[in-house]
Amino acid sequence: MRTRVAIIGAGPAGLLLGHLLQRAGIDSVILEDCTQAHVEARIRAGVLEQGTVDLLEQAGVAARLRQQGMVHHGIELRFDGQRHHIDLSGLTGGRAITVYGQHEVVRDLIAARQACGAPLLFEVSRVALHGLDSQSPSVSFDHGGQRQVLACDFIAGCDGSHGVSRQAVRPGALQVFERTYPFAWLGILARAAPAAHELVYAGHARGFALFSMRSPEITRLYLQCRPDEDLAGWSDRRIWDELHARLETGDGWRLNEGPVLQKGITPMRSLVTEPMQHGRLFLAGDAAHIVPPTGAKGMNLAVADVRNLAHALAMHYQHGRDDLLAGYSSACLARVWRAEHFSWWMTSLLHRFDDHTPFMARLQHAELAYVCASQAASRMLAENYVGLPFAPLPA
Ligand code: APR
Ligand code: PHB
Repeated sequence: MRTRVAIIGAGPAGLLLGHLLQRAGIDSVILEDCTQAHVEARIRAGVLEQGTVDLLEQAGVAARLRQQGMVHHGIELRFDGQRHHIDLSGLTGGRAITVYGQHEVVRDLIAARQACGAPLLFEVSRVALHGLDSQSPSVSFDHGGQRQVLACDFIAGCDGSHGVSRQAVRPGALQVFERTYPFAWLGILARAAPAAHELVYAGHARGFALFSMRSPEITRLYLQCRPDEDLAGWSDRRIWDELHARLETGDGWRLNEGPVLQKGITPMRSLVTEPMQHGRLFLAGDAAHIVPPTGAKGMNLAVADVRNLAHALAMHYQHGRDDLLAGYSSACLARVWRAEHFSWWMTSLLHRFDDHTPFMARLQHAELAYVCASQAASRMLAENYVGLPFAPLPA
């Protein structure tokens, strides 16, 4: 088997890269270790930045997103039992976010790939990378009971935070910057009509809570919990009681309850790999960096990476230019570190930390009050939340 670009992982990063390459006339093979059903059902965050939506639109994969995505022009911050509206669009010259589940984006991209018959192999196992430092790398893997070797020009490591690509680089060649947080999120998906039109980020003495949604019938909710929290200790009743306590305000706003469809724990981590490239291997998305979910930046960063990578590969194949491939990592890392800072800042603003002394509580409160009262501070939140504009792609 031979292809130009071997893509490992069929998450948003790998699938969108394959799609953008296909449109540029560059063939690729995508290798995924899970089943198609699993990948299409995996519930993750659901906030698309304006630039992500525009890119999916330009790439011709936004038909369902346009119909079913919910455009939000603001978010709400809640603390001290008070609501504070942040006018995202008013503060950013009309930009907005779209609430559309990440697994829906994945479904749309899989459908586009399958419609054009481009290779996308599910349930591969024992993926191994070879010859990263050579001109002719390859990927070996098991599929359908057979060991196969895929020869290629480049490997795109889009295999998420637990993938094999990053590990395939010899020790010491990549630097990893990392921070773990002393808490996690317990998330539920419930069949209940969202009780508000906008996402609500709540800072509370009992811990952070987030109100989000997936559709007019489905609510998505999260609670800050311990990093080693055992889900078995959380009955649906206990979860709802905790959500009511953290989210409700004195003015009669009530969360709508409904059957819990899915429950899970999301760990909170910040991680950046530098550089995002080694020889013929290019890392993109969660394989290269992880953000805590507070600013909903994970998938948006993956999209920004593969936009750069697809363009750099197109310049290589169409014009024999390798400068953009050489600059891929630094082009991505500027946005990655900005998003790392924003996600860390939003996390710090709203969560209860172990050192929650009265002093720290008052500092946090002063920052929240400032973000809501100052137009400059709300604009800083808004422009990062809707996503900073993409840097122009070098001609
Ligand atoms: N071989 C093949 N595929 C693999 C391997 C492997 N060894 N290891 C992991 N994968 C697959 C996973 O099953 C997954 O489908 O790689 C894919 C990685 O996808 P994601 O984890 O979704 O990562 P990415 O595409 O970078 O998307 C960015 O945004 O909201 C965040 O963390 C969230 O998924 C998210 C991300
Ligand atoms: C979600 O809807 O799943 C979601 C929304 C906002 C976040 C994180 C997750 O910051």
